[in-house]
Amino acid sequence: MISKETIQHIQGKIDIIEIIGGFVKLKKRGTNYLGNCPFHNEKTPSFTVSPSKEIYKCFGCGKSGNTIGFIMDHEKYSYVETLRWLANKYNITIEETESSPEAKAYQQVTESLFIVNHYARDFFRDQLRDTEEGIDIALSYLTERGFTPEIIEKFQIGYNPGARDALAQSAIAALYNPEIMNKAGLIVQRDGQWQDNYRGRIIFPIHNQSGKVIGFGARIIKSNDRAPKYINTPENELYVKSKILYGAYFAKSAIDKANECLLVEGYTDVVSLHQAGVENVVASGGTSLTTDQLRLIKKYTPNLTIIYDGDGAGIKAAMRGLDLALEEGLNVKLVLIPDNEDPDSYVKKIGASDFKAFVSREKKDFILFQLDVALKDAQNDSVKRSNIVQQMAETLSKINKTEDFAKRQDYVRRVSEMLNIEESGFNALVNKFLRDKIGKEQQQNFQTESIPFDDGQTNHQVDQYISDLVEKDQRHEQAIVRSLIEFGTKNWDDEKTVADFIFSELDELELMQQIQNDKFISILNSYRSMISDGQSPTLKDFMYHEDQELQRELIRIMENEPDLSPKWEEHYQAIIPKRDDLYREEILSNLYYLQLRKIKKLMAENQAELEKTKDPEQQLLILQTHQLLKNMENTLSQKRGTVIYKS
Ligand code: GTP
Ligand code: MN
Repeated sequence: MISKETIQHIQGKIDIIEIIGGFVKLKKRGTNYLGNCPFHNEKTPSFTVSPSKEIYKCFGCGKSGNTIGFIMDHEKYSYVETLRWLANKYNITIEETESSPEAKAYQQVTESLFIVNHYARDFFRDQLRDTEEGIDIALSYLTERGFTPEIIEKFQIGYNPGARDALAQSAIAALYNPEIMNKAGLIVQRDGQWQDNYRGRIIFPIHNQSGKVIGFGARIIKSNDRAPKYINTPENELYVKSKILYGAYFAKSAIDKANECLLVEGYTDVVSLHQAGVENVVASGGTSLTTDQLRLIKKYTPNLTIIYDGDGAGIKAAMRGLDLALEEGLNVKLVLIPDNEDPDSYVKKIGASDFKAFVSREKKDFILFQLDVALKDAQNDSVKRSNIVQQMAETLSKINKTEDFAKRQDYVRRVSEMLNIEESGFNALVNKFLRDKIGKEQQQNFQTESIPFDDGQTNHQVDQYISDLVEKDQRHEQAIVRSLIEFGTKNWDDEKTVADFIFSELDELELMQQIQNDKFISILNSYRSMISDGQSPTLKDFMYHEDQELQRELIRIMENEPDLSPKWEEHYQAIIPKRDDLYREEILSNLYYLQLRKIKKLMAENQAELEKTKDPEQQLLILQTHQLLKNMENTLSQKRGTVIYKS
């Protein structure tokens, strides 16, 4: 683990303009910098970088974030990889901290699994090349199927002999731990004896992104109804099926170069295509693709071409994965291989160059293909046809990344044409699915924030009023957090800093309790504890905070320019002071609003009490409270005359 101090050191060095400017040509425009967005295609620049806010934002595609987020997205690095890259750039030596006992134990297991896997891979390889049984049974089989010695070597293919315990004996004699060998799926215990798991099978090692062996696929040689054709490594710390794409290690750079990833079903398909010179290919193992696998592909390219045989179960599995792929923003194409062939047999049958020509000729858009199949099936059945319309609208609503908007509209046009329906009506249907999805997500978020209103006879109007208040509240809470971070270390007066002032007001007026957003509260609290430790917190301390959600919240706050009120413009006419000059007014204004909200909320609650009670004495008390609150509101509203920012 990289130490906290190192991380802080790196964050302190970050110069957002220098870093992003290394990837995007930036021009100075006022206080900001402008360039062409690297995340979507554009001719007029809408990608803005703000050195003072430490964020970038594209007004075209909506992407935004801090420097670390930019590198992670642009270079497809993990957080740790990004830190290492920055450390290297700024010549910072990385200090590693002691990892936790759990992390250490985990690391020990994965290390041991790698060790036994590499021993087994070498053992299997030697058996295939150097033993009579390997050569006669396995190598001859592979050769007959047309695999060259070079390709067998490249993919490190091997053979596990038919004897009960060839590998087990050899490994145990070499003092490898049988328990670990068992966890790796290489040997199993039968009748109190360690025996080989993949007896008499061809072995395909499966590699991770850096070429280390994480598991195996073991193919039977003579087909046998009782035994499965393939046996795989059981799930363990290294072998996590949902994250594996066979061949990804060998395909990486070819995928990058071709800007396309071909997906096939089987191990042998991958190996054969490589042999034919088609190297941008990975296999899913015949099951439907998982989100993890799709993200792995998306790291290298947005273009996924699935090559399956048309009547197999694979195509159905792929269809099931289509919505997921669209959600990940992938462009999915499909190539169907003729019946009774798979890519392996077909490329061997027609040869490498014809195969390549076949793929580029037969490549179809997967969404339109799916529609085509469904329409052929439905014929003139009107119920089926209207189901298709619904289905397609739902599918298209999965293309919902902001930057994919144009792509979705293009599909809406083409699909409504194929369905022979009005484009605007179909578009509305797609939007309905989009809204439903967003609505569901927001509802989930809102549940944690909604205010409890305890009796059954909740007055709908009051309820609405209060939730409006809460919503407005957030803007002022947010503004206070923002002022604190931007101006906190400036002077408020001769004695206090801005931060001192804000905290004393929040405490005195009991406004902390009014703040709804947990992330704002934690920003305020950590700011407060930093100043009590004698530190001067900066934007960087929060922009690169270890809590990712807190970072995101802050980026959201910093994105918005506060609106200036028209009154203010009248007042000052042509001289437009900068926000920096107005921070006192801005802070006062937001504190007033927060107070006002508090009073209004109390008034609404009081009002609700009044509607419930029948006791005249109680009613009187409530009315007096109301009067008091009303007076407070008036006093505050008068002060509001000096207020500059819009409510
Ligand atoms: P060959 O028949 O030797 O060409 O292998 P293949 O890779 O073409 O196999 P097939 O088309 O039958 O299956 C495609 C992929 O599905 C395989 O590569 C395996 O990943 C997986 N698969 C097939 N059969 C089995 C099985 O019995 N068990 C498991 N776990 N996976 C299988
Ligand atoms: Mn095959």
